[in-house]
Amino acid sequence: MIIVINGSQWGDEGKGKVVDLLADRFDIVARYQGGHNAGHSVYVGDKAFVLRLLPSGIIHEDTVCVLGNGMVIDPKAFFEEVDQMIAQGISINPGRLKVSSRAHLIMPYHRALDHTSEERLGNEKIGTTLRGIGPAYEDKAGRRGIRVSDALSPEVLRNRIERNLEDANRIIVTYGQPPLYADEIFEEISALAERMKPFVCETSHFYAEAKKQNKKILLEGAQATLLDVDHGTYPFVTSSNATAGGASVGSGIPPHHITGVLGIVRTYATRVGEGPFPTEMLEDEQETADLIRKRGNEFGSVTGRPRRCGWFDAVATRYAAELNGYDSIALTKIDVLDALDEIKVCVGYVVNGERVDTFPAVSSDLRQIQPVYESLEGWKEDTLGITEIDELPAKAKEYVEFLSKEIGVEIGLISTGPERDQTIIVKGSVMSSWFSGQ
Ligand code: IMP
Repeated sequence: MIIVINGSQWGDEGKGKVVDLLADRFDIVARYQGGHNAGHSVYVGDKAFVLRLLPSGIIHEDTVCVLGNGMVIDPKAFFEEVDQMIAQGISINPGRLKVSSRAHLIMPYHRALDHTSEERLGNEKIGTTLRGIGPAYEDKAGRRGIRVSDALSPEVLRNRIERNLEDANRIIVTYGQPPLYADEIFEEISALAERMKPFVCETSHFYAEAKKQNKKILLEGAQATLLDVDHGTYPFVTSSNATAGGASVGSGIPPHHITGVLGIVRTYATRVGEGPFPTEMLEDEQETADLIRKRGNEFGSVTGRPRRCGWFDAVATRYAAELNGYDSIALTKIDVLDALDEIKVCVGYVVNGERVDTFPAVSSDLRQIQPVYESLEGWKEDTLGITEIDELPAKAKEYVEFLSKEIGVEIGLISTGPERDQTIIVKGSVMSSWFSGQ
């Protein structure tokens, strides 16, 4: 069984909790793209774990975790997170954490270039996480990147740093920042690469062997569908393929070995950074947005920046379901809506007076969209911690059914709070078969 899981919107859908729940049932939990862009929290009892780079499966001691070839890894951030996990009592060793030799490294100059690139864009900036993700992928596509395996060879590492830094410094200095020095970068990265050596693995071969032994693999997408560099709200996207198709390329697992795709969908939408957001709650709905932000704790896990809040967008989610081929959906944060009198769902878009049923490719079209809403009555009852679908208030159940019909995919899991046991698994669903390991 090889399942891909990813977010259907712009990230922060609550994937961490679902991966954490499923991790017990899988032998391997792996990531296939992205880096330490943003972070998410997983709550277990009174402990909160903030994960940025490591798959959420790391909290389960029997799970092997893999960072795939499609990722960009900042070695400093990698060890900061590893050390933080160890300090929180998680055992981490090369037996249970593997890093692809083909993953690319985020270098200090990539971070600096992320800043200058945003500065250059001014009002059109992307609102990146400024971690150097985009510039690292640019070097990868430009065939000058430094992979984990390259960093293990001092000669290759030094040559690449010197060559790349010459170009990088030209831009960095133009934007009034101090130049970076090759010697310092070499010392820092070679020491970190040496520490990383025991974790380095030919991960595609590792997966092929795991498949022969019928191991169960969960491939965890980071960021989310609408931030995918090909299919998202370009250019306001991240620089990798977060969609399910990226899982094969980014891990080296043949596409036909993947057996299912699970989408994480939240009962409302949020977005961080810039870019179009058709169902965003604007000035006239600020009160509702504030309420949702507060109840849903919609602030960045690492940066603390408030997330833009909006209504559920069925057009965008349908698009995500088509792109990823979702077999089942986990619907998160239903309890956040308990306090609302009215809940709106965007069921269509109007652009320039015309109804459109598909998700537009052009960002400016997305900005001009007038969402067509259907309004549902709120249930105004507590759903926190409910574990059976029949115990949901009738109107909450109707809301779930309405969303499922609009998206065209079953909802197999409903999250009713941040804790592991605050969850409904819908009996007879595809999701329930994944939970029972079939
Ligand atoms: P980058 O990935 O840092 O280049 O940022 C590109 C865009 O993706 C920005 O709008 C970020 O706010 C957004 N983004 C990146 N990572 C995440 C994430 O994990 N959750 C939500 N948004 C993200």
